[in-house]
Amino acid sequence: MTAKITIKKTFKGLLLGAAISASITGAAQAAEVEVLHWWTSGGEAKALGTLRETLQGQDITWKDMPVAGGGGSSAMTVLRSRVMSGNAPTAVQMMGFDILDWGEQGVTANLNDVAKAGNWDAVVPAALKRFAKTNGQWNSAPVNVHSTNWVWGNKAVLDKLGVAVPTSWDEFISAMQKAKAAGLTPLAHGGQAWQDATVFDGVLMATGGVDFYRKALVDLDETALTSQTMEQVFDRMKQLRGLVDDNFSGRDWNLASAMVINGQAAFQMMGDWAKGEFLNAGKVPGEDFVCFRTPGTQGTVTFNADQFAMFQVDEARHDAQMKMASAILSPEFQIAFNTVKGSVPARTDVSDEAFDACGKKAMADLKEAGANDTLIGSMAHGHASPAAVKNAFYDVITAHFNGDMSSKEAVKQLAASVKNAI
Ligand code: BGC
Repeated sequence: MTAKITIKKTFKGLLLGAAISASITGAAQAAEVEVLHWWTSGGEAKALGTLRETLQGQDITWKDMPVAGGGGSSAMTVLRSRVMSGNAPTAVQMMGFDILDWGEQGVTANLNDVAKAGNWDAVVPAALKRFAKTNGQWNSAPVNVHSTNWVWGNKAVLDKLGVAVPTSWDEFISAMQKAKAAGLTPLAHGGQAWQDATVFDGVLMATGGVDFYRKALVDLDETALTSQTMEQVFDRMKQLRGLVDDNFSGRDWNLASAMVINGQAAFQMMGDWAKGEFLNAGKVPGEDFVCFRTPGTQGTVTFNADQFAMFQVDEARHDAQMKMASAILSPEFQIAFNTVKGSVPARTDVSDEAFDACGKKAMADLKEAGANDTLIGSMAHGHASPAAVKNAFYDVITAHFNGDMSSKEAVKQLAASVKNAI
């Protein structure tokens, strides 16, 4: 308790200091937003460009602060040091429990006036609002909804192999074995902890179903964490490990997408930001590539939503910050951005008309999962548990995927390190 209050006071003090020094140069910076984000791939940069242009149209200057790395762990490390040095950016791409964490520190900006004017309470889905608000205060502006239980396939490759879109785990494995026999990389993957964890989201859902996902990844129930089902999840991860190429280690996710785009690999298991790479390469869903839910998970959605958390800035920069928050939730921007990014709108009242086949499917799946209580936060992308627990999952998943650890041992280590992190 005492530690928390001290941290809060320290952050507030630092911000006040920053505000005083910033006010000296305030006029020059008045209409500027400094934006910390991890959207550095081709498709991501293009999507972000729609926000930059929207703001430039309102004479707001964009100061870019990119920190690569899906899941945002590296960006969050940079953010902490910026806040500690009393120099928080205007807006920070952020997800799930991280937003709640910063909201509780008392250093985020209050967006309630903008939210009220834009009727956010009525149009933003409850699953996102839960993270955007603390104690009745809006701290962040939701940009999109992504989900992780997706697979992306090269259509020409599948046609050549005579493979239909797999609907069960066994069909999926057998399709990949066919690709292997034909000399292709069955599964394009980048060996980075967050990518391993992204695959794990889908594998766990496919293996245990939604109740198991909730028990294991959200409730952190020890019986679920140490179950036979969890062991099977790790067995399936090992099965996938045998279907990636030799050079997967450390590869960025968008380079793995490129392997599917250029026909070197058959599939990639990745969130729907991968679609942004296909679109950016001029590819068309249904013609050049296929999108389908991780076999065995249709009807469920493991979601993550990007939001821009706003930090307290001096008076001179307040106006531009509020304009940015307001622009993000406008229906026009939601369509312009999400049709490029691969995600779907963070509002429930936007038509799917402008979206391609995969986007329409994503919107319909989201609606269905919301109604059936099968919409559940992605562990890999910070929507199932706070960062310390997420990192405990990352550590064991990646050690098992990349080493000789048995599934039995992984289950044991997982339960222990989750317990330690709670
Ligand atoms: C974000 C996406 C991003 C992806 C890869 C995820 O955590 O939600 O917006 O495209 O990471 O960088």
